Amino acid sequence: MSTQSSLVEFGQRHVTKGLGRITEDVFQKGEGSWVTMASGRRILDFTCGIGVTNLGHCHPKVSKAAADQCLSLVHGQCSIAFHEPYLQLIERLIPMMPDPSLDSFFFWNSGSEAVEGALKMARQMTRKTNIITMQGAYHGRTFGAMAVTKSKTIYSDGVAPLMPGVFTTPFPYWHHFNTSPTSSEDELVRASLYQLELLLQQQTAPTDTAAILVEPVIGEGGYVPAPPAFMRGLREICDKHGMLLIIDEVQSGFGRTGKNFAIEYSGVRPDIMTMAKGLANGFPLSAIVSRKELTDKLKPGSMGGTYAGNAVSCAAAVAVADAFKEEKILDNVQARSQELFSALNGLRSKSSLNGNILDVRGQGLMVAVEFASPSHSANDPAVLASAPKSLASRVTKRCLEKGMFLLTTSVYETVRFIPPLNISQEDLAKGVQIFVEAVEEIVKEG
Ligand SMILES: Cc1ncc(COP(=O)(O)O)c(C=O)c1O
Repeated sequence: MSTQSSLVEFGQRHVTKGLGRITEDVFQKGEGSWVTMASGRRILDFTCGIGVTNLGHCHPKVSKAAADQCLSLVHGQCSIAFHEPYLQLIERLIPMMPDPSLDSFFFWNSGSEAVEGALKMARQMTRKTNIITMQGAYHGRTFGAMAVTKSKTIYSDGVAPLMPGVFTTPFPYWHHFNTSPTSSEDELVRASLYQLELLLQQQTAPTDTAAILVEPVIGEGGYVPAPPAFMRGLREICDKHGMLLIIDEVQSGFGRTGKNFAIEYSGVRPDIMTMAKGLANGFPLSAIVSRKELTDKLKPGSMGGTYAGNAVSCAAAVAVADAFKEEKILDNVQARSQELFSALNGLRSKSSLNGNILDVRGQGLMVAVEFASPSHSANDPAVLASAPKSLASRVTKRCLEKGMFLLTTSVYETVRFIPPLNISQEDLAKGVQIFVEAVEEIVKEG
């Protein structure tokens, strides 16, 4: 069972259909910004495994730290005793936190688990039940996380009843207000905060509401950064009503947006923050941080989990934090981000594209291009009757044919760029060239 076709055939027969894929090939090796597949193809990875391998595949220092840890302690169960990599990781993370009040940590395995933990903690800390989430939010596929996910119905289709006590308010994205990509940020922020105020007056009383949960850049909802004024507005509303603000940095954290955490763009203090993905560069690890004054309200034993805070994953994450500083990753993000935005904006303004790029947005190396759609909804003023159908999926497919993995996102015609944060100028330029060629070809084909 070693040829690509026999491996794929076996997988198709025995791996659940509930898992989708963008290619029928098999990963064999990852190195920096590139992966090699069983088909022999070498592919430029502009997905980072959905924002995970931020320092590239198999970063030598991270892989070595994990290998060394494997030879001393693999599983140091967190409800039995502390282990050293767990504590070393906290030591590395404390100075990176967006606010000095964030000083009490709990590690888990996945982003969804971190969100589950944050919701549970918020209810326990406030003794209130309701959670406000954003239209377009993605927080995971487990039951609590799925209940606060509002980006696509596919994640919860057919599995209701979901966790009760969840209320949804619009995130300031122009689609949510049926306006155009040129809508003013101030107006979107005002409209969103107003809807939130109404929600608190009409549907969930502040006395019943434990927390507002928000991604500082909605990921699965379309890669839309939250305007700083919106985040400050949420903070004010939470302070006014004694509710907690939970910031989900699972995808936007660890340098992805050009700052350690995207919430830094607004200067807002989270009460609880979730992290995962880039934290350990591919080893399963997530984290929830809050302030000791709040976590001291939790009963010992209420948190936990057999594999929570695995020693190998923690050792890898310590190496990530060290490499992050040594290799001046944020400087590279800033430089590559400027190049990416400049190329994408240049493409958007080309007359040959006939206005088919509606929006170029994002922060750092968390960047999206939204294409026009001929048919999204008869009620959508952004619909462009002349636009080719399914631009986003056709463009990503063409990029793959040309040797680059690129993902779509949201219910709109959007593609997202998530290249490694340490990608070279040359590899970024290669990826941009592949994308530009793909878009030009597909638009021409119509
Ligand atoms: C913002 C955000 N929260 C939570 C999750 C869920 O993380 P996981 O897939 O590790 O469960 C994701 C995953 O994409 C995410 O982007």
